[in-house]
Amino acid sequence: MNDIGVIGLGVMGKSIAINMANHGFSVSGFNRTYAKTQELVNTNIKNIYGYEHLEDFVASLSVPRRILLMVPAGKSVDGVLEELLKYLSEGDIIMDGGNSFFEDTNTRYTWLKEKGIIYFGVGISGGEQGALYGPSIMPSGDQQHYPLISNILESIAAEKGQEACCRYIGPMGSGHYVKMVHNGIEYADMQLLAEVYLILKHHLGLTNKEIAHILNQWNQREVASYLVKITAEVLLAKDDLGSNDLIDVILDVAGNKGTGRWTSIEALRQEFNASLLTAAYQARIMSNQHTLREAFVKKPSKEVTTSLEIETIYQAYALAKSLAFAQGFQLYQDASDRYGWNLNLKEIASIFRAGCIIQAELLQTIMHAYQDGVSQLLLHPTFYKQVKEHSPDLAKVTATSLAGGLPLPLFASALVYVNQLQSEWLGANLIQGQRDYFGAHTYKRVDRDGDYHYPWSQDHE
Ligand code: 6PG
Repeated sequence: MNDIGVIGLGVMGKSIAINMANHGFSVSGFNRTYAKTQELVNTNIKNIYGYEHLEDFVASLSVPRRILLMVPAGKSVDGVLEELLKYLSEGDIIMDGGNSFFEDTNTRYTWLKEKGIIYFGVGISGGEQGALYGPSIMPSGDQQHYPLISNILESIAAEKGQEACCRYIGPMGSGHYVKMVHNGIEYADMQLLAEVYLILKHHLGLTNKEIAHILNQWNQREVASYLVKITAEVLLAKDDLGSNDLIDVILDVAGNKGTGRWTSIEALRQEFNASLLTAAYQARIMSNQHTLREAFVKKPSKEVTTSLEIETIYQAYALAKSLAFAQGFQLYQDASDRYGWNLNLKEIASIFRAGCIIQAELLQTIMHAYQDGVSQLLLHPTFYKQVKEHSPDLAKVTATSLAGGLPLPLFASALVYVNQLQSEWLGANLIQGQRDYFGAHTYKRVDRDGDYHYPWSQDHE
């Protein structure tokens, strides 16, 4: 009898199955198309067994059965669950390791609980390499059942200082929520790095190689992260189908699979300002606005030389990156309060330190801040000081580059955000006046409590 079954043997599923087998677990594999199952079996890795029929796959598992779904989020998950239910017994455990929308996980959890099936939503980050050698794992469901899966998940997870980058997150779909916002932060940092690249290339006139060199230097400092490292590598890659740098022949269009969009929608639903995360998703949308971009584009793009110093750009990037992470973590706090999840933000920061796409030195600082008991990350002295000291750098880089025609939605969002934080007046007093004028919505005053209405004389000419 095998320890665990994996359904869905695409890149991620196959890699996770191999990772489990390499950690001594016997693994049953099943895929809708049998060829993929055969591909896995043909790796000849010890402890891996493939099955053509779902019934045989289920029968090969020790009881209670533990099954990890690695199928695309959405309808496929429901399809597999319906099929699986025919063969499962009460007390069996299903884990959804895909990027499912957290509310779908809530629904499935409730539905399966009624049938006696234990359901876990399991956020997994790290791409193919992470899945194979150690991802960051975010499981959620009933805490009392977590010991039934903790051994396997914690064994295959990445390690940081001998600690597994896998922790029980909270009830129901909270693990998928945490993974969703992880991706929102991922989009934001990716876009920030894209903007750093635009500034260095188009305003400082640096070559791809020079930019990669700068990023590699930055990667020795506070902003050190997986994304900074791979960005330098992307910039250095040579085109295997031509003689240019690869980056110069890649189309300027970015797609997405939905998690960044969900993060933005959720932030709005929670009435929470995650402006950098939202701007990163909008930047991807904008890259796809072909007709408008073609109509307005100035060719060749204007090269402007500026006197911006690399150190100023570094500090601006470092601050914007902190703001993106801070918005993501505050969104966790808000969701935790709203849904009663009791998320442990320090632990979340801790499991992001290795294995996942947003792994970064900054997470160590975030962990320390939560350890110090801070309620809002930006109120911790480290981040407070960074905002105070480096917002002029952010303003200088953003204003100079925007005036020079560069599209920098994330730097601009970051600057707007710090300006909002640091301004005594946001103009909301005028909004109150306008609302009271046309809708008698009342307004609040600075000098006395209560709601007031002013007798505006409305003029509809
Ligand atoms: C990860 C990644 C991974 C993936 C997503 C997001 O943490 O391993 O976030 O889940 O890259 O598919 O990709 P999109 O950019 O396509 O939305």
